[in-house]
Amino acid sequence: MTPDLMEQGAQRRAEMAHKVALGQTESGGREAGFGRVHTPGEVDVTHGRILYLEDVNVSFDGFKAINGLSLDIAPGELRCIIGPNGAGKTTMMDIITGKTRPDSGTVFFGSTIDLLRYREAEIAELGIGRKFQKPTVFEQLTVFENLELALKTNKRVFPSMTFRLDSAQSDRLAEVLHTIHLAPSVSRQAGLLSHGQKQWLEIGMLLMQDPKLLLLDEPVAGMTDEETARTAELFLTLKGQHSLMVVEHDMGFIRTISDIVTVLCDGSVLAQGTLDQVQADERVIEVYLGR
Ligand SMILES: Nc1ncnc2c1ncn2[C@@H]1O[C@H](COP(=O)(O)OP(=O)(O)OP(=O)(O)O)[C@@H](O)[C@H]1O
Ligand SMILES: [Mg+2]
Repeated sequence: MTPDLMEQGAQRRAEMAHKVALGQTESGGREAGFGRVHTPGEVDVTHGRILYLEDVNVSFDGFKAINGLSLDIAPGELRCIIGPNGAGKTTMMDIITGKTRPDSGTVFFGSTIDLLRYREAEIAELGIGRKFQKPTVFEQLTVFENLELALKTNKRVFPSMTFRLDSAQSDRLAEVLHTIHLAPSVSRQAGLLSHGQKQWLEIGMLLMQDPKLLLLDEPVAGMTDEETARTAELFLTLKGQHSLMVVEHDMGFIRTISDIVTVLCDGSVLAQGTLDQVQADERVIEVYLGR
């Protein structure tokens, strides 16, 4: 290359750097790239979907537990999932959270995050929280310590284990305590709480990590009627701020909280609509509600 050409090239690079700094390039100064610009920690919901499953299939030893399952959820929605035992409800949550790999299909978080490319721990960090049926709180620790620990284990917030809550985190903890109705029990050992209170504490621990999507598998199983009613209230408060997918067999609870209900059967969607609509559906009555 001649010294002249090298000089011209260097000059063009300098001009471009100047334009980028001023935001005068065609991309407004952003670095060039394909597709949408992805901001870490944010989920792109411009297509109106926080979760999108299409034609998902899973077999266990030749048995099709999930069979051509397609479903999507809007941001802020509280979606209820019902269906008979063995319908594939828990398996669907296993797939969304990376615990089970599907044989085929598409699973997206927002419109840009292909969940099948991530491991279970990474999916939790992306902002999908999951509540299993059995409460898994630290029984020896207090309510406060359990919530504090939930913050500690969030790598997005704390890269190290040595920390003290800053004022924003203390405020968050107080807010979560209030939301889960456990403010009066803040210093109580978690092992001494009722079953329902332990469930709320575990939901609180998920909330400390500020998940965008919460998956809850049979959250009111084993609760008293009063605890179930308070849980319904809690979910209605969470709706809008978070997106929720709730699997339950308790129809009274579903009636209180539901907008759209999806009925799963044999690993795919059998029906979808308001609870009244699906309860009037002959196929749903036959496989589930009419038992
Ligand atoms: N890891 C696995 N290995 C083999 N079979 C499995 C596995 N996980 C789930 N299954 C089977 O897949 C089917 C769907 O199970 P799943 O637990 O998803 O149902 P469910 O809708 O959650 O039922 P329930 O209402 O009883 O909780 C069942 O027949 C179950 O036995
Ligand atoms: Mg299940």
